[in-house]
Amino acid sequence: MTVTPLATTPPIESRLPQVGTTIFTLMSALAQEHGAVNLGQGFPDFDCDPALLTQVTDAMREGLNQYPAMAGVPQLRQRVADKIAALYGHPYDPATEITITAGATQAILTAVLACVHPGDEVIVLEPCYDSYAPNIELAGGRVVRVPLVPGTFRPDFARIQASLSARTRLLIINSPHNPSATVWTRAEMQQLADLLAPTNVLLISDEVYEHMVFDGAPHISAASIPILAARTFVVSSFGKTYHVTGWKVGYVAAPEALSTEFRKVHQFNVFTVNTPVQHGLARYMADAAPYLQLPAFYQRKRDLFRAGLARTRLRALPSQGSYFQLVDYSAVSELPETAFCEWLTREAGVAAIPLSVFYEGGYEQRLARLCFAKQDLTLNRALERLARL
Ligand SMILES: Cc1ncc(COP(=O)(O)O)c(C=O)c1O
Repeated sequence: MTVTPLATTPPIESRLPQVGTTIFTLMSALAQEHGAVNLGQGFPDFDCDPALLTQVTDAMREGLNQYPAMAGVPQLRQRVADKIAALYGHPYDPATEITITAGATQAILTAVLACVHPGDEVIVLEPCYDSYAPNIELAGGRVVRVPLVPGTFRPDFARIQASLSARTRLLIINSPHNPSATVWTRAEMQQLADLLAPTNVLLISDEVYEHMVFDGAPHISAASIPILAARTFVVSSFGKTYHVTGWKVGYVAAPEALSTEFRKVHQFNVFTVNTPVQHGLARYMADAAPYLQLPAFYQRKRDLFRAGLARTRLRALPSQGSYFQLVDYSAVSELPETAFCEWLTREAGVAAIPLSVFYEGGYEQRLARLCFAKQDLTLNRALERLARL
């Protein structure tokens, strides 16, 4: 008689035991359940330029549907190098220094895996994007959390300096910043360069909102400061720039020595990224107008949104860049942030994200993040509801 083996799944020891369902998923589900206007998750509720769709579908119809070069379609890498040279003045070689990735998320993970060894320390500035810490943990690194200055969210260089050790391998920065909507000044980027110059610390500069900087201020890319460019993985995302977050295409620009190590990991991770989308993006990028006009496009939305918020009991903090707006709700409620955002979704019909989820310890400041990458109609509907608070 044959014995049927038991169909049980062997136990698996989690590599990321602390990670559960994210607040973004939870708030989006709650928003749907209560018919709330969803200003929680950061993506546009409007479509991209139809010309971009035409370029991508043309590429598909032309048969550009097989594996491209591992580092990305050469024409797209050339466009990215040209853009960076024109805007930030640094000449990256597209053959060896630009790699097309499956969004910024993959770019950051790959950069971390490429340079962090078990036991290395990586500094992140809190509050920060939620993928950084798990990425570092997956690489066996130790996350060193340095707070941005509470209230203003500016970098605290004394604390960054004090957190450097012989084990520090990497620092991750993000400007324009999600979630605080601050933008680093040239003086701050220069101060960072002065601080890192005597060290061997590498930098990941998450610049996915590079084309969303307001009030005439420039975006100061790490690429524009030679001391930083020489040690930095500059990361950006076509998803943010062209209103196509679901396409998941981004890029990394880094000096050859860093790009070589990056590509070793990239090759055995995603290998290559969607071919027709890359060709479509390369053709679309021939015209700089869409990204050059993006600051004005989002500034108008920001101003519309802030004018409406001024008629509510929420206090809007400055929004210098990105498509986010922090609001202080202390005049409305004493609830902690997550409870407030749940209440706001259920009772007011507007979904927001608690700022505390961007901190490891869940630091409470009575602040919530709202996303204004929405149609005017959506923003106005949310504002009507917020005015009733
Ligand atoms: C700061 C920051 N970095 C990275 C990403 C991820 O970008 P992508 O969708 O290209 O992976 C996001 C998306 O929300 C973000 O806000």
